[in-house]
Amino acid sequence: MHTRFERTGALTELSSYPQWAQDMVADCEQAKQSVLCHELWAQMSEASLDQASTRNFMVGVWPVIERFPAYMALNLLKTRFGRSQGDNLARRWLVRNIRVEQNHAEYWLNWAEGSGVSEEEVTMGRPPMGSQALASWCEEVSRSGDLAAGIAATNYAVEGATGEWSQRIYESVAYAESLPAAGRAKSLRWLQLHAAYDDTHPWEALEIVCTLAGMTPGVDLVQHLGECVRRSYTSMRITLDHCIERQDTLVKANTRVEAAA
Ligand SMILES: [Fe+2]
Repeated sequence: MHTRFERTGALTELSSYPQWAQDMVADCEQAKQSVLCHELWAQMSEASLDQASTRNFMVGVWPVIERFPAYMALNLLKTRFGRSQGDNLARRWLVRNIRVEQNHAEYWLNWAEGSGVSEEEVTMGRPPMGSQALASWCEEVSRSGDLAAGIAATNYAVEGATGEWSQRIYESVAYAESLPAAGRAKSLRWLQLHAAYDDTHPWEALEIVCTLAGMTPGVDLVQHLGECVRRSYTSMRITLDHCIERQDTLVKANTRVEAAA
């Protein structure tokens, strides 16, 4: 039986959400940390990420940036006004927030430009091999998953983790100073907008997922939602791995050459 969830506590407190959701968040924490603790962020925030990896990152992540409003539109197609409280909430939220995404693709291109990666390279260049894990998964779950799964995977998991890594990079003075002074603010705009500070989006997405699933969803649904969230984090980590893979390969190759010499 569907037992309604209606949030009474603060939006950004995990304790405001049903126990199953709190457990799900805890179960997925390790996978989330594999994204947040990724080597790529450490290098980027120290302004030591090499140009080939920077290019890979800008080109490899671009399809997710460009398609993000489309993932939301695919989820919007699944809603039916009046069917449930969750449907109404999802519909209203998606309609409003697709518009918010409007300029984000352009801001990503500005960021790339400031990092020395041209618009043509980002939009027409070939993404590094294996880097499309996140884009493929977001597309799949938004297209074929149910509404709660789609929102959990994209607006909760991907946006949530992105808010946290964006904040880390945005706060790095070394990183900001590594960008050309002219147009620096423009280059940093995407990061500024996505840095978590007072971003309530992932929480709102969690609220929608809980409203759709209710207080006492079946074990199967809970497990499925957890798997979708975890898969988003894992796909993000794989995408990042493939953006710096080339450098790792170079290092390994050099080590082999040195060892053989
Ligand atoms: Fe965005």
